[in-house]
Amino acid sequence: MANGLLEGKVGIIFGALDEKSIAWQTALKCHEQGAKIVLTNAPVALRMGGIQELADIIGAEVIPADATSMEDLDNLIVKSQEILGGKLDFILHSIGMSINVRKKKEYTDLNHDWMLKTFDISAISFHKVMQVAMKHDAMKDWGSIVALSYMAAQRVFPDYSEMAESKALLESFARSFGYHWGKKAKVRVNTISQSPTMTTAGSGVKGFSDFYSYSDTMSPLGNASSQACADYCVTLFSDLTRMVTMQNLLHDGGFSSMGMEPDVLELK
Ligand SMILES: NC(=O)c1ccc[n+]([C@@H]2O[C@H](COP(=O)([O-])OP(=O)(O)OC[C@H]3O[C@@H](n4cnc5c(N)ncnc54)[C@H](O)[C@@H]3O)[C@@H](O)[C@H]2O)c1
Repeated sequence: MANGLLEGKVGIIFGALDEKSIAWQTALKCHEQGAKIVLTNAPVALRMGGIQELADIIGAEVIPADATSMEDLDNLIVKSQEILGGKLDFILHSIGMSINVRKKKEYTDLNHDWMLKTFDISAISFHKVMQVAMKHDAMKDWGSIVALSYMAAQRVFPDYSEMAESKALLESFARSFGYHWGKKAKVRVNTISQSPTMTTAGSGVKGFSDFYSYSDTMSPLGNASSQACADYCVTLFSDLTRMVTMQNLLHDGGFSSMGMEPDVLELK
């Protein structure tokens, strides 16, 4: 349903790996709503994924950037403004990766060097993106910056491992940087706490498909899909949510308000 909510707006979308990616679906929806976009991902992901296919569909340029590298981010922010014709209206940070999860380390036996790398990729990169964008004064007044989070930031989901702490850090960066962006240019910064979603990053978590079913049953509306998350991102990039900032916004079909759901007892 295209109604021009993002007509004339320009932005950068991080993290579209393949069509399952939340960022991929968001890029499609933003394009459908009239936005012009620069796509970016880590150089290694550009080689593995199909981002060029997405770029062709939406007429976007792709700029490689490792989101942990200030040099790459500097280049990305400068070049994106050249391509898009000036300052940005929105940025989506849709990046997550845990080395310890990938290497199947138990939470009580984590490698702390890997943990630091996980924090750098999954959370500190958000601060880096915002810092570089601010250094270049790259956001338009009343712009919008969004990152994707998960409820393990507040509650225990044992197999989510160190990603829980990554998300807690990410959400805190949204609040703290949201203050500074708000004062500087009325730019809003929020995180969306999304339901479990069948993507490459999601499926990397141990027991993900059982957990996906559990969450789907527990939520009165069921799990929110990546397309629904993309719709929510569109609203946050639009002018209809100008006074929403420094929030962690739950997009979870009602999961977070549930205590007991009898249907869950029937699952196994
Ligand atoms: N899938 C879920 O269940 C779920 C639920 C809640 C939140 N999220 C969050 O949504 C976001 C997007 O994940 P997704 O589920 O779409 O999976 P995805 O695997 O499609 O996307 C993750 C992206 O992060 C990118 N990335 C990894 N390291 C990077 C780096 N150094 N620099 C730049 N990019 C890098 C990957 O290339 C990939 O495109 C993540 O923050 C994830 O934690 C996912």
